[in-house]
Amino acid sequence: MAIREIRKKGDEILYKKCKEVKNFDNKLHILLDDMYDTMKKQEGAGLAAPQVGILKRAVVIDVGQGRIELINPEIIEESGEQTGSEGCLSVPGVWGEVTRPNVVTVKAQDRNGKWFKMTGEGLLARAMCHETEHLDGKLFLDRVTKFID
Ligand code: NI
Repeated sequence: MAIREIRKKGDEILYKKCKEVKNFDNKLHILLDDMYDTMKKQEGAGLAAPQVGILKRAVVIDVGQGRIELINPEIIEESGEQTGSEGCLSVPGVWGEVTRPNVVTVKAQDRNGKWFKMTGEGLLARAMCHETEHLDGKLFLDRVTKFID
């Protein structure tokens, strides 16, 4: 396990589309473990692989309900709406109001390649949207309606 460097806004890797994960091997497991430790150390609620410089479709989330890993995630259903403050470990010190669906269902693979579906509400739904967008090279800043001082 190791703490990896978090890429910050302006780093070109954050704006690229990530590639599908095809090998569910030890290298992926190490990446996921490192991502989780890096996220925890920075007190984040989610981290996507491009944020540590890896262009792969892998995400870790922990909004206080335990560790979640989403490989090749795809949002397949969303409903409702929530507006709340959002931040990102790649954009330190910046918080903004973002409107997201309140309930989100994702289809994803686990670290061994097994497909599953998961539904999240509130903060978890927000994190699922935010992190999945990182995999397509998008930062939450584009969605901010109002920055919070
Ligand atoms: Ni982020």
